[in-house]
Amino acid sequence: MLGLSIAGGLLASGWGGDARAATVTLACGAVGIEYEDCRAAAEEWGAQTGNTVLTFPMPNNSAKRLDLYRAVMAEGTGKIDVFLIDVVWPAVVGDDLIDLRPYLGEAAKDHVQEIIENNTVDGELKAIPMFMDAGYLLYRRDLLDKYGREVPKTWDELADTARLIQEGERGEGNTELWGLVFQGRDYEGLTCNALEWIYSHGGGRIVEPDGTVTINNPRAVAALDKVAGWMGDIVSPDVLDYDEEETRYAFQAGNAVFMRNWPYVWTLLNSPLSAVSGDVGIAPLPGGSEGHAAGTLGGWQLGVSKASANPKEAADLIGFLTSRKLQKERAIEASYGPSRPDLYRDPELQAAVDFLPDVADLDFVYRPSTTTGTAYNAVSQVFSAEVHALLSGRTDAATAAQTIEGALEELKAGAW
Ligand code: GLC
Repeated sequence: MLGLSIAGGLLASGWGGDARAATVTLACGAVGIEYEDCRAAAEEWGAQTGNTVLTFPMPNNSAKRLDLYRAVMAEGTGKIDVFLIDVVWPAVVGDDLIDLRPYLGEAAKDHVQEIIENNTVDGELKAIPMFMDAGYLLYRRDLLDKYGREVPKTWDELADTARLIQEGERGEGNTELWGLVFQGRDYEGLTCNALEWIYSHGGGRIVEPDGTVTINNPRAVAALDKVAGWMGDIVSPDVLDYDEEETRYAFQAGNAVFMRNWPYVWTLLNSPLSAVSGDVGIAPLPGGSEGHAAGTLGGWQLGVSKASANPKEAADLIGFLTSRKLQKERAIEASYGPSRPDLYRDPELQAAVDFLPDVADLDFVYRPSTTTGTAYNAVSQVFSAEVHALLSGRTDAATAAQTIEGALEELKAGAW
């Protein structure tokens, strides 16, 4: 268990006894090098302001992270001043977060406005984006070259190339190699992946912005059926238990031709510890024959607890962590996408992470979190559980789509 019980008992110490100094507690992510980055940045703010900041790494699995937040929020004791929340959570946890407009209303204008709108619930600005991301395709450039294949533009091309290289390499003794790895565990990550498959095949967005439940349609069923057919063929059954990091480990060890993941993997895949350093390419995800390719919009936001004893300092810390300087550093050093459009035109950033397209050109698909509001988490859980059952061979695509539709209609009748 995380030691979250210290905030109340700690004195603001070590800053020359400044009576105004506050202690602020901050929940950080811990995927890849996220925690190191978060802690170092928070300490920089502490050194600049004379405040003390305590950072805590949060569970990587976003469902577990949300459970932990809910438990802390239910206590109402302000153990965590600053929460790092998923882009799909503003409505889910917004009741427990203060309105940041008095503190950061001006600063919010410099971020992608769609995300600021996403983070605004009933007119209140609940969080400021720390970084934004989207699903990408990572590929083994060396293997594609060896087999004379192009970066796939469609999922069918991807499956073809994956199969060819997998067979060829296994024939040469690389028995651990699989064609494709993705986040296949029953959790939020699978929701993001499956939404990409469905949307890129013209099968809609599970629930449309007007609230219509569209999951049960022939294109969505065909997309799900296609991916289910890859299991045991170009996709190892092991992915049924992979989250982002396990996916990265498999690819980084040289055991996959293609990987779907978020941009943070780029720096790590090219680090000296990686077996594939220098051999990796990154591209937009493939499309289907109908519809078009798009990565699911992801990203993490910072909001202040209503129970915080130091909301002013907590908001100041958020301002610092989401500043231009910090977002630029985070992008260059750890390949996290900034949420400040102007940074995408920064020459230093462009040189360091040249695969990040200008945010204005990005094609995102949004999870239906605004439409389903506080019910989003339940919606996502129903969806990922059924897709997981399908990939595990426990149901078929048509039945899965029907089951999801039924459960979502029920949730809709009750909660959104
Ligand atoms: C990434 C995304 C986040 C998403 C999660 C799913 O962290 O930034 O939005 O919910 O992956 O695992």
